[in-house]
Amino acid sequence: AAIGKGNFRHFMEKELHEHPVVIGDVLHRMLDGGTPRLPALPFDLAAVKRITMSACGSAFYAGLTAKFWLENLARVPVEADVASEFRYRAPPLDEGGLGLLVSQSGETADTLAALRYMKTAGQKILSVLNVPESSMARESDAILETIAGPEIGVASTKAFTAQLTVLAVFSLALAQAKGVLPSAEVERLAASLLEIPAKAAEVLANEAPIRQLAKRIAEARDVLYLGRGGCFPIALEGALKLKEISYIHAEGYAAGEMKHGPIALIDKSVPVIAICPSGPLFEKTASNLQEAAARGGQIVVFSDKEGAEKLAPIAAETILLPEIDPFAAPILHAIPVQMLAYHVAVLKGTDVDQPRNLAKSVTVE
Ligand code: G6P
Repeated sequence: AAIGKGNFRHFMEKELHEHPVVIGDVLHRMLDGGTPRLPALPFDLAAVKRITMSACGSAFYAGLTAKFWLENLARVPVEADVASEFRYRAPPLDEGGLGLLVSQSGETADTLAALRYMKTAGQKILSVLNVPESSMARESDAILETIAGPEIGVASTKAFTAQLTVLAVFSLALAQAKGVLPSAEVERLAASLLEIPAKAAEVLANEAPIRQLAKRIAEARDVLYLGRGGCFPIALEGALKLKEISYIHAEGYAAGEMKHGPIALIDKSVPVIAICPSGPLFEKTASNLQEAAARGGQIVVFSDKEGAEKLAPIAAETILLPEIDPFAAPILHAIPVQMLAYHVAVLKGTDVDQPRNLAKSVTVE
């Protein structure tokens, strides 16, 4: 049967509202009594010494957040590169490593080529896919399904948060298999993931401040997104989404790297959107924001109550998000970032579901 938009104006809006259910489904399948449960894998997780991750677009950013989790929690080094660069660099890979590919469609030409290269270089292949009957599924040793359902909007929404959720559980499973995290800690982190569906629903129900912020952003010529740690890729994703569907120039930057370039662009016409939940990296980002504020930048804060209170003196606008453990925060923060891009695009009157020059799945190089 044809998929409809229901009561929504765009597929993107409908798909945004599917976040709580999709994330909940992933967790229901992948957590068993609060501990990770992966499908049977044809390799020994405990023996994985090195991971090579490759993908394109939003899927690459999901993989970059996973790099943070895999290195920080599972203590496994991860090389990460966009597939179009990775494939031609032909990097040397030690036999016995794990190749990790992330793709909604499972058909992206560059990602498929990266998969094939990793295979010839003796890697076991694990792909995180939304389409289980895709080319990448056929050529992988194992797949982790996102099961987000068909995604019609060209700009990824629910498939992205589903990828993040799958990768978060995978990171916990790897940490557990390697014995580098006490099981009580694995359970505590898994429990923080289980809080996401209800909190995502809260974010979706609180659209008015985001719609209000969209008016300011729609006026901007350039927008800077900043984040750190697991939220750095969410800043990249925020900038990508805004460019893709509203055609406003946006850049995502590691907050600490701002002083090495983008700070030169900051003046009162440039919104600086900070993805900065409370946590160990908050104070570092806060001091970068002070620097941006001192140059007149319009600071827009995406944070929880504690973070928002600390940044209130410099914030031009604040999007208040539910409190959540820093581990799960990138997944929750991805949602308002996508919603903002959506509302800016609606104000701009663009073709939200079919933005110019973009394709849902890029099957040619
Ligand atoms: C296109 C889409 C993006 C997507 C990227 C990778 O650029 O517009 O939304 O992130 O391809 O696609 P994949 O199917 O491999 O995730």
